[in-house]
Amino acid sequence: MPLPKAELHLHIEGTLEPELAFELAARNGVELPYADTDELGKAYQFEDLQSFLNLYYELMAVLRTERDFEDLANAYLARAAAQGVRHAEIFFDPQAHTKRGLELGTVVEGLWRALGGSEANHGVSTRLIMCFLRDDSAESAMATLRAAEPYLDRITGVGLDSAEVGHPPVKFREVYEAAAALGLRRVAHAGEEGPPAYITEALDVLGVERVDHGLRCVEDPALVDRLVRERVPLTLCPLSNVRLRTVDTLADHPLPAMLDAGLVCTVNSDDPAYFGGYAGDNFDAVRATLGLDRERLRELARNSFLASFLEDDEERRER
Ligand code: ADE
Ligand code: ZN
Repeated sequence: MPLPKAELHLHIEGTLEPELAFELAARNGVELPYADTDELGKAYQFEDLQSFLNLYYELMAVLRTERDFEDLANAYLARAAAQGVRHAEIFFDPQAHTKRGLELGTVVEGLWRALGGSEANHGVSTRLIMCFLRDDSAESAMATLRAAEPYLDRITGVGLDSAEVGHPPVKFREVYEAAAALGLRRVAHAGEEGPPAYITEALDVLGVERVDHGLRCVEDPALVDRLVRERVPLTLCPLSNVRLRTVDTLADHPLPAMLDAGLVCTVNSDDPAYFGGYAGDNFDAVRATLGLDRERLRELARNSFLASFLEDDEERRER
């Protein structure tokens, strides 16, 4: 029995497996610049975040209809459930779809067709978090927030993702203020490739409740002290860090030291179709390679529920 856990850092578009990409391409008459899944598989060698994002956005071309988003989410939920995920807070990138001419409603309604039945069909409760692309303008992010207002019964929070360096959190101050005024929860990617100062800014300027990645906090002892003191959860993604070369090898990952320092760490998959594993695979990898014992793994699982946006009574039910 895999350890019950919540997944808090998961981009639904990053769960697009090569086989499903080709299936959807055929269904929608979209031509992919790869002959087959083998050839596509060879493109999964990344130098950094941007080299991954290039492929991630390219393959999204196959996602066109509500049914495509429903199938994508159901495929993820089935895999996640098999690895012990009982609750998933799922990111999606509205601008990556609206800029291709899709309606926001197609994306949200399609995802909801899977998420609405997820507890019954997969035993996984869910929340949906809408991310703004930080390498797009703040005006585009604000327009996206406004366009999402009819769907806010389905959207729990906002996040910030895509190319980090050169796009500090402060760029989105007004958007996050507007999101807070709408009652949305707030998270942001910070300290994946960007400097520790972006983590501080995400907390102080955007008012985030969790930091996605937050890995580079380890370079700033005063920041680590603060994150420990304020019990700010970090949604770490170890296999992602290896594939995007933010750590040299998994054996070099600072997770054990971060736990020893008292940081509220969680382990997540980020973009599992691209980085070699789902949530349980990330747990297995850190156990095998970093030697985390059972108590540490239980701490990671416990943190995942405590850091989730489940209400207290729901949280007890999930565990
Ligand atoms: N979008 C999808 N995965 C991402 C990641 N790891 N960092 C930033 N943006 C992303
Ligand atoms: Zn991410």
